[in-house]
Amino acid sequence: MTVTPEQARKLAFSATNITKRYGGTLALDHIRLDAEAGMIHALVGENGAGKSTFLGVLAGRVVPTEGEIEIFSKPHVFGSPREAHRLGIGAIYQELTIVPRLNAVANVFLGQPHAKRGLLSEKRMRAEFREVCARFGVDIAPDAVAGTLSTADQQMLEIMRGARSGAELLLFDEPTTSLAPPEREGLFQVMNQLRDQGTTMVFVSHNLEEVLDIADTITVFRDGQLAATGPRADWTKASIVRAMVGQDIVEYRRVERAKAAPGSPPLIVARGVTLPGACEDVSFELKAGEILGIGGLVGSGRSSLLRSLAGVESMSHGELIVDGRGVEWPTRPRHAMRHGIAFVPEDRKHQGLVLGMRAMDNIVMSNIGEVSRYGVISERKIVEKSTSIAREFGFSADRIGTMVRHLSGGNQQKVLLGKARFCAPRVLLVDEPTRGIDIGAKDEIMSTLRSLADAGMGIIVVSSDLEEVIQISDRILVMAHGRVVDELDQSGGPVQVTDILNSAFGVERHAS
Ligand SMILES: Nc1ncnc2c1ncn2[C@@H]1O[C@H](COP(=O)(O)OP(=O)(O)OP(=O)(O)O)[C@@H](O)[C@H]1O
Ligand SMILES: [Mg+2]
Repeated sequence: MTVTPEQARKLAFSATNITKRYGGTLALDHIRLDAEAGMIHALVGENGAGKSTFLGVLAGRVVPTEGEIEIFSKPHVFGSPREAHRLGIGAIYQELTIVPRLNAVANVFLGQPHAKRGLLSEKRMRAEFREVCARFGVDIAPDAVAGTLSTADQQMLEIMRGARSGAELLLFDEPTTSLAPPEREGLFQVMNQLRDQGTTMVFVSHNLEEVLDIADTITVFRDGQLAATGPRADWTKASIVRAMVGQDIVEYRRVERAKAAPGSPPLIVARGVTLPGACEDVSFELKAGEILGIGGLVGSGRSSLLRSLAGVESMSHGELIVDGRGVEWPTRPRHAMRHGIAFVPEDRKHQGLVLGMRAMDNIVMSNIGEVSRYGVISERKIVEKSTSIAREFGFSADRIGTMVRHLSGGNQQKVLLGKARFCAPRVLLVDEPTRGIDIGAKDEIMSTLRSLADAGMGIIVVSSDLEEVIQISDRILVMAHGRVVDELDQSGGPVQVTDILNSAFGVERHAS
């Protein structure tokens, strides 16, 4: 092809000197970035590097302190999502914006002008909803109340809303965090189709493999600055990491396990765990020092199982034996806490954190006694103890006094882990431990979980990142349709992702 650079470079956006200051925090520092139209641009960087803030500026959500942006050669009007929409921008945010009480169809067509003017009949919307579902390869009932769907399904609805909005510039802020491999595939297929139709996309992800897979250009942010940008061909995983953190890092490897003493009694035994419509008659044991992984596809009942055990699902029932003694099935979180069971939920915004409180207060909240003396809460102890716990999960001490609302998504996740850890549980249930966590902190979190287990804690991990489940777990239960369909032991050698998927899909494995 011999096109002149002018012909080739139709720009979707051109940002000059974009700076955003929050009090003393420089979230974006003179960012200059051009994005060619009709391509997928990946944006990567550590937690707090400024990725979401930059997308927020593009989407008209955040008003920059300084700088200008042209969108398809027209000046951007900052701070007006409506204006941004008019310029052809659609956004899928990091924190979901699903309306829980509306059904699936209504959520996908939410806020879209032709639906509002009544030009799109209920029947047409349903038909189109089914089409979009088929395109993504997902199966969501049109009438399902959005709030009752799994986080992954909610994320899919959000993506579907963005993808069918007809936007010319689509912004995806960590769209894949809750998705299992098949749903990711569905998303990537649709992204490729959209690109072929000329749509420009900006895609934020901490999963560097998928970034290298799908992106045409890759831009790295570091501490609010643009560290590097270039076409996909110029990058390797190692060079991205170097640009992100300024040095090479060693990735977490499976470490030799301190084996749970053979014959030692299980910490907990759960039998016949049932949550109507979500999980059915699940039984398992967990020993001290053991990490049990739960593998499966979205909607397989993984999160429901964890939530039931954590006492979050009041309709669940089952049998629970703690230290060899039968106890009442927990139907309130504090019942579970009483048995030493702590829970890190998947949805940190609604289930886990008080956004208007500082990071340190959130961490110590579950165990105030630890930071009090003679019944008086000591600020010094709060700072000291929360800082040391937060560090275990890669949370920087500088941010310990920041209000959680003002932390980036990944940093909120670290606070959530610290909070569960602070009450010194005997059993830790973690749903998506590294959701939104950057590659450096991910390793720290994995090894912290490992050392907690080595010190005698029993841990159950649910993650849609099956590689992660394999890396961290001693044993893996595979769930499908609310039931346990397989148990894979890793003592004889590592399980493969395909083993989990095969069990989940019910593919017969030939006994050898
Ligand atoms: N409303 C706000 N008030 C104060 N500080 C903020 C606010 N929003 C973001 N920040 C700060 O701006 C910086 C950049 O945050 P941003 O959310 O853009 O990071 P990110 O790259 O998206 O990180 P992550 O990977 O964790 O999502 C962080 O230091 C964050 O704490
Ligand atoms: Mg972010």
